[in-house]
Amino acid sequence: MKFFIDTANVEEIREAAEMGIISGVTTNPSLIAKEGRDYAVVLKEIAEIVDGPVSGEVSATTEDADGMIREGRELASIHPNIVVKIPMTREGLKAIHVLEAEGIRTNCTLIFTPNQALLAARAGASYVSPFLGRLDDISTPGIEIVQDISEIFGVAADIDTKIIAASVRNPIHVTQCALAGADIATIPYKTLEMMLHHPLTDAGIVKFREDYRKVFGDK
Ligand code: E4P
Repeated sequence: MKFFIDTANVEEIREAAEMGIISGVTTNPSLIAKEGRDYAVVLKEIAEIVDGPVSGEVSATTEDADGMIREGRELASIHPNIVVKIPMTREGLKAIHVLEAEGIRTNCTLIFTPNQALLAARAGASYVSPFLGRLDDISTPGIEIVQDISEIFGVAADIDTKIIAASVRNPIHVTQCALAGADIATIPYKTLEMMLHHPLTDAGIVKFREDYRKVFGDK
């Protein structure tokens, strides 16, 4: 399973890119609003930092297929690595179908059932994004959706759509996604940080340093 970072903050993206752990980036209207900067400018900056798919979502105010197609083309013109993120709606499926036929990659977002994922795949989406955390929030095990989508895509030899496990909130989610067969997990910077640490790692570093210094000093 690969890692994408789920943020529109370029400092966080730069930091994760320097560690060599991320293969792409996802953003959404809420993440962009948090940064308060021009969307096109931010997406271009991100695409210049990370050499991989960068999902930019059509604006939350566009609901019809024509509008999403128009916006999708504009987003795709920013950089060759831009993937157009489109919500799972009837109009969204129409937009996915048209954009993919034009060679513009799409990521169908706000997926909460295996059937929604299958519909998006049949419309031609390059990626589907099932949201684990938001399902957990309403007492529905989110990971089961990822498992089911993985199984369904696995038996359908003609589906190439990749699964991006989204709304990943903690390190346990990440391990579960890898075991469930997600191709990618898109992870907030805070969660990547949590994944790095273990108290025994920290304690081990301190102990090694102390033992070494007792004999060799600071040499
Ligand atoms: C990813 O594509 C989504 O933008 C994101 O993972 C949503 O996460 P949240 O449910 O924590 O807001």
